[in-house]
Amino acid sequence: MEIKTFHDSATWTLSHIAYDAETKDAVIIDPVLDLDTIGWRTHTDSLQLLDAFIAEHGLNVHYILDTHIHADHLSGMQYLKDKYQAKLVINKAITIVQETFKDVFNMASDADGHEFDVLVSDGDTLTAGSLNFKVLHLPGHTPACTGFHIENAVFTGDALFIPDIGTGRCDFPKGSASDLFNSVTTKLYSLPDDTRVFPGHDYPGDHRDLRMETTIGESKADNVDLPASRDKEGYIKFMEDRDKTLPLPRLIYQGVQVNMAAGQLPKAESNGAQYLKIPIYNDK
Ligand SMILES: [Fe+2]
Repeated sequence: MEIKTFHDSATWTLSHIAYDAETKDAVIIDPVLDLDTIGWRTHTDSLQLLDAFIAEHGLNVHYILDTHIHADHLSGMQYLKDKYQAKLVINKAITIVQETFKDVFNMASDADGHEFDVLVSDGDTLTAGSLNFKVLHLPGHTPACTGFHIENAVFTGDALFIPDIGTGRCDFPKGSASDLFNSVTTKLYSLPDDTRVFPGHDYPGDHRDLRMETTIGESKADNVDLPASRDKEGYIKFMEDRDKTLPLPRLIYQGVQVNMAAGQLPKAESNGAQYLKIPIYNDK
């Protein structure tokens, strides 16, 4: 099994293609649909990089996996589904996220998980030809966050990042630092130390270059938010204090609204235009 990772510098997202070089079986994890936030146009430059790699290697894409409902970018799921006739996969706890955000957006939505093709649960095996992924439910950043474990690699989404970035924030609706502590320490830190970890984001800068992977061993020793030595109470207090200092993601309303519909943009209205809904809060 081989892994190719792509970094979207506009949203700091890491998208991955896991594939078998012999059988050509492949899955795509956390693809990005680009969004121009001045002209409000989507475009597919990032997805075309994946397309080029898939074509170059002659891959057969079985599934598109979103590790969770992203709040910082639009999912490229639908574009890839149409292009490769691949199935869309997400955790069955997606319905909790959909119910929560229907309220936030005051939407009369019929979202109930049917927007996706496969709803997975903890412990399931997802088979894509010669590739077998074990599903790890990793609630905490959101209630439906999921990791996908295959051979000596695990795709962790926003549960566990490169060690100097830490773990995902837990202050979104239905997020829980207690749950994320349990997810990371019981389901990820129980994997062998040499397991390769592929997160959903990286945030390089002047301090260091881009990193696309770490290991469970390095995370246990050096993760700035949750080293294996940290106790649960200390982690929860640390995260509650830390998360209060974070601004909302720039695309939270756009991202959540589209991604809870499996990356589908809203239907066109009578004038042919599509609209997203953004709540406005007024300080008194
Ligand atoms: Fe996220």
